[in-house]
Amino acid sequence: MNVLITGITGFVGSHLAEYCLSLGAKVYGTYRWRSPLTNIEDIKDKVNLIDCDLTDAYAVHKAIETAQPERIFHLAAQSFVPTSWRAPQDTLYNNIISELNLFEAIKGSQMRIQIAGSSEEYGMVYPEETPIKETNPLRPLSPYGVSKVSQDMLAYQYNRSYNLYVIRTRAFNHTGPRRGEVFVTSNFAKQIASIEKGLQPPVVKVGNLEAKRDYTDVRDIVRAYWLTLDGACTPGDVYNICSGNCWTIRKVLDTLLSLSKVEVKVETDPERLRPSDVPILQGDNHKFHHATGWQPEIALEKTLEDLLNYWRERV
Ligand code: GDD
Repeated sequence: MNVLITGITGFVGSHLAEYCLSLGAKVYGTYRWRSPLTNIEDIKDKVNLIDCDLTDAYAVHKAIETAQPERIFHLAAQSFVPTSWRAPQDTLYNNIISELNLFEAIKGSQMRIQIAGSSEEYGMVYPEETPIKETNPLRPLSPYGVSKVSQDMLAYQYNRSYNLYVIRTRAFNHTGPRRGEVFVTSNFAKQIASIEKGLQPPVVKVGNLEAKRDYTDVRDIVRAYWLTLDGACTPGDVYNICSGNCWTIRKVLDTLLSLSKVEVKVETDPERLRPSDVPILQGDNHKFHHATGWQPEIALEKTLEDLLNYWRERV
């Protein structure tokens, strides 16, 4: 089976590519000329890379012609929430237009496509609304959240208008080896690994530690993404992908610190605070579990240990 992964050089893209290869699929992936290939170093000879700017409709058309995919996993996006305040226009343009170009290139075909939405779409969630079901109101708190709501609605519309086989997912936070260093789990792990090697004074810089997030290991997430297109989910419908557990960011930091012997001071860096932060994201995964039988297998403690070891080998 031919599969196409947009954003194959990214954190999730690289893990999904490995998983698809393990299932015997022929993997194509789009990337941009400036994307570093470090995440796919070990598999770059086993996958077919297509240099493609997804905001260019003609390039997307050609990529689809080259890959002839039966399944498409659309992961490419500007995915860091703080960047979306600094560059709202880029975030909205990239995230929405890339998906629009993909839909236009495949509409009328039998191709199946998964759209990677986000729990950030829920945004302002009140404690009594948790765990969050797919029916919860969408109240995004960042331009990134708005871009993901738009992607989600566009996917719904293309299913209704053209009967496109599209599955919408709203993944909650995920992490693991190769996580970009700007994201909190990776950032803290890298700081701790740097302190262990004496490359940074024993001070961990942090932002808002009171936020609560629902984390799943990336290796569980990519298994879920694969299952979305297996036929058990309803085209046009939306599914939360999450663990159902919720940790404060403080607990994430404390767990990482408990895996190390270093003594550190924790210091708030005002630069790391956001104009508005989503206070709590704790998902309900029953709908997806009921459809596919999926459930996460890797505990967050193990994920954080793997992530810290990943950074220990790299700093
Ligand atoms: N990045 C970062 N750095 N975040 C920090 C820090 C820090 O030093 N200190 C505290 N935080 C808090 C943030 O304010 C936020 O509440 C939480 O840690 C998680 O931040 P991120 O790791 O940047 O992730 P995110 O929750 O904003 O977004 C991620 O999850 C979404 C799904 O809910 C991203 O992966 C998105 O692309 C994804 O859609």
